[in-house]
Parts: sequence; structure tokens; C-alpha cells
Amino acid sequence: MSNRIVKMGHDDHFDDAESVKHYAAHMERFGGMYGDFVKHLKSLGCGNRFLEIGPGTGLLTSRVAAVYPDASITALDLSPQMTEYGREYVSGKGFGDRVKWIVGNAEDSEFLTSLGKFDLIYSSLTLHEFSDAKSVIKTLNSALSENGVLSILDLRRVWWLNWIPSKEGFFSSIRSAYQPNELRTMLGELGFARCEVRTMFPFLLSITIRK
Ligand SMILES: C[S@@+](CC[C@H](N)C(=O)[O-])C[C@H]1O[C@@H](n2cnc3c(N)ncnc32)[C@H](O)[C@@H]1O
Repeated sequence: MSNRIVKMGHDDHFDDAESVKHYAAHMERFGGMYGDFVKHLKSLGCGNRFLEIGPGTGLLTSRVAAVYPDASITALDLSPQMTEYGREYVSGKGFGDRVKWIVGNAEDSEFLTSLGKFDLIYSSLTLHEFSDAKSVIKTLNSALSENGVLSILDLRRVWWLNWIPSKEGFFSSIRSAYQPNELRTMLGELGFARCEVRTMFPFLLSITIRK
């Protein structure tokens, strides 16, 4: 298995409205992959204060809002263009009054801590974009309320994708994603006892950390 190839900074293809629309259309086609994750989040039976990290176009945000009708979601994304798209998308689905959009950097621990405590913090397809994922996970864990849960869905670096010569877009994301054992080591170093890393077909993984 080849080494993780770290991306430099966050994806610049989220920096203009046209690329964001293109990404949104792509995710609408593959939206089925959120099904199990949403069921998992629902099964956690968390309280009502949610934080979503890197919500992007708001597809998952809407699905979570639909299964948790009493939840208020803070949606934090680095990209103003993504945020604009996500806000409109979620409002169009009728959940606008329960989602507060913030443009900000999840790697800024002081800023993240200033947002307060949350019963559920979740994220999809964003972990591999952080320059220091371990530090972000540590800060997010400290932002959990008592009995809070941190649940992360991300790509998994599978060996067979290395056979595909393309190094662009999705394939560069796969190359920069983690393997389950790398994350288990990371969580062990952070001293988290109540956590699990699951692999999901075909190239996904999830992390669940309970306070
Ligand atoms: C690949 S997209 C995933 C979007 C969405 N969660 C999904 O499942 O389609 C990654 C998102 O994370 C955001 N992001 C990347 N780095 C971030 C950071 N440091 N803080 C907050 N958001 C970040 C990007 O702007 C983008 O919207």
C-alpha cells in the first residue's frame, strides 16, 4: 500500500461558483452513500445541538435535519462559495431556520472552541483535507457536551485505486485519505478509549468517538 499523499491546503476547486455547482451535481448522483451514515447518526439518539464540519453543498446537512427534526445545526465551512451554495440548498429543502452557516477554519482550535459545546459533531469527506487531522479531532472531542458523540465519515485509501493513473480530483482525495490502522493509531495516541473505526464498502471509513 502506498503512502498517504498529503494535499497542500484545501481543495481550490471549491473556490468558484461554477466548480461548486459541478461538485454538487456529482454528489447528488452519489448521495446514496450517505444512507448508512445518516442511519448511524440517527441511531446515536443525540441531543439537539449539532455541529457539521465541512458541510459543503448541504446534502448531508439536509438529510440529518430531516431525521433529527428538533436539532439545530451549526454548519462550518472554510469556503464562502460552498457556504453560499449550501445555505441556499438547505433553505430550499425547508430546513433553513434550523441551520446556522459559518465560514471558518476547523483547524483554528481557538475559534472552534469559541463555538460552544455540541451533542453531535459530524463530518463527511473532509478529514483528509486537514493538514493536522489529529489536532482537529482532539479539538472537536473537547467541544462535545457530556455524552456527546463525534462521528466522521471519510474516504479510505484503498490499494486498488492506486492502479488508476489519474491523480486529479477524486483520485487525489483517495490518495490523501487515511487507512483504518493509521486512524486507530492516531486515536490511541490521543488516549480515546470509547472510539471505533469501521470500514465501509467500497472506499469509505467512519470514526465514532463517544465522550
Ligand atoms: C470534499 S468536500 C465535502 C463536502 C460535504 N461534506 C460532502 O460530503 O460532500 C470538503 C469540504 O470541507 C471544507 N473544508 C476543507 N477544509 C476545511 C477546514 N479546515 N475547515 C472547514 N471546512 C473545511 C471544504 O470547503 C469543502 O466544503
